[in-house]
Amino acid sequence: MLVEGNRHSVRGSLPLKGREAVSTPVSSNSITNESDTFEIGDSTVHRLGFGAMRLTGEDIIGAPDDEELAREVVRHAVDCGVDLIDTADSYGPAASERLIGEAIGDPEDVLVATKAGLLRNRDGDWIAHGDPDYIRNQALTSLDRLQTDTIDLYQFHRPDDEDTPFEDSVAAFAELKDEGVVDEVGVSNVSAELLDRAREQVEIATVQNRYNLDDRGSQEVLDICDDEGIGFIPWAPINGDDLDEHGDLLDEIAAEHDATRRQVGLAWLLERSEVILPIPGTSDPDHLESNVAASQFSLAEDEVQRLTEAAD
Ligand SMILES: NC(=O)c1ccc[n+]([C@@H]2O[C@H](COP(=O)([O-])OP(=O)(O)OC[C@H]3O[C@@H](n4cnc5c(N)ncnc54)[C@H](OP(=O)(O)O)[C@@H]3O)[C@@H](O)[C@H]2O)c1
Repeated sequence: MLVEGNRHSVRGSLPLKGREAVSTPVSSNSITNESDTFEIGDSTVHRLGFGAMRLTGEDIIGAPDDEELAREVVRHAVDCGVDLIDTADSYGPAASERLIGEAIGDPEDVLVATKAGLLRNRDGDWIAHGDPDYIRNQALTSLDRLQTDTIDLYQFHRPDDEDTPFEDSVAAFAELKDEGVVDEVGVSNVSAELLDRAREQVEIATVQNRYNLDDRGSQEVLDICDDEGIGFIPWAPINGDDLDEHGDLLDEIAAEHDATRRQVGLAWLLERSEVILPIPGTSDPDHLESNVAASQFSLAEDEVQRLTEAAD
């Protein structure tokens, strides 16, 4: 299971939804995403996705040193069968979305989820900004960078508690859906109460909150998603420090499966709930393969239970 890079580059072409089809370099390999699937609106995606925040420069500011490598990671993810990619206008800002657009355009069979609602500055701060006009403007810039006519899943990145009433921001997302600019709406970093309020305004397809083996702070929100069939996208799914809190247990179970701690952490998320859609983030093609390979083994029932109880 400890997979290292098997890839080589070939040229292929992907069917595109929006703009004209172009010949796109893609990579081929022997790692396949074997996670089961989940419906987001009319799209069916494999539950194990890819987080594209790490494709940027240091502190998630600016472009990466090697842009072609970043594009290769995106193409490689798709080639491994990943069809759920998460990004945001604030990653770079702009760089992550642009690199995804350049790498794959807008293939029909890949759902690209992006977000709006956070500003950046040169210090790398993340500043909530939920102004409805700003959200509407950002949607247009995301369309351009992602080289698409419609955003597949548009997520409100974080409630702007100080300056904009939550309902005003969510209304902008609802309007964009009504106008056909976005297919589905999601929210991120919300409490159970805010999720409830958002659902009164618009159908919420997904929630994206921090959640992993050690951090169960969003368990209540996950339980609601589980009951209601809403996709739950855990961010920081394989955070190294969090997994290290349970290092001995993870090592023991990993040894049984010839796997790594991170692979066990991902396998546990896939077992935890059928609505969980993990989006491990990486800038490294070998790490990407290793993460996708976590979909290729199952944990035993008692292993799932021990991992679940580890931080309950
Ligand atoms: N909604 C929100 O507020 C929010 C906040 C944060 C993130 N996100 C989303 O969630 C995604 C995932 O979160 P995240 O990137 O913070 O955390 P993560 O996926 O838990 O961990 C990413 C870190 O792990 C390393 N890594 C990944 N795979 C590895 C492997 N197989 N072996 C060794 N190291 C590995 C990465 O470094 P390498 O690049 O070296 O592999 C990176 O430093 C992001 O990409 C983004 O799309 C959303």
